[in-house]
Amino acid sequence: MEIIKYPNKILQTKTQNVEKIDDEILGLIRNLFETLHKSKRPGVGLAAPQVGISLNLTVIGFEPTEQEMKEEKDLKPVPVTVLINPKTTWLSKETVIDKEGCLSVDNTVIDVPRFQKIHIEYIDENGKRQKLKAKNYIARVLQHEIDHLQGKLIVDYKKSKS
Ligand code: NI
Repeated sequence: MEIIKYPNKILQTKTQNVEKIDDEILGLIRNLFETLHKSKRPGVGLAAPQVGISLNLTVIGFEPTEQEMKEEKDLKPVPVTVLINPKTTWLSKETVIDKEGCLSVDNTVIDVPRFQKIHIEYIDENGKRQKLKAKNYIARVLQHEIDHLQGKLIVDYKKSKS
């Protein structure tokens, strides 16, 4: 599938919840992973709106090779996870600012403040309710992806010039 690019409106539209995990949804999940792995720039997550489907579903996962890890110190592995209708249930008080890019926003890196720790609930690809506690980099990845599902992009964090 093609990755939809900013400023396509679908990227800034709040998604609809997934009601039932049927073959169409399972196909979408496969497609998201395939598109993520094939993308020219390394990406750690892809949300359904990024392939033009406004559903509350995102996938994350990144397994850099040892060679890639050596070449790029910034690369960190992310466990492969399917998040359906994710909900944030708790956020830490502390926030951390760090640079973020997005496969839907070309040639742009923005300083984005994120909560250092996050607790979420979601439904996995088998329809099971799951809870996840994350911190630091993974917490950042989750907040970035959940933003996508709310129609929010890194460009929305751009400081207005005074
Ligand atoms: Ni993104």
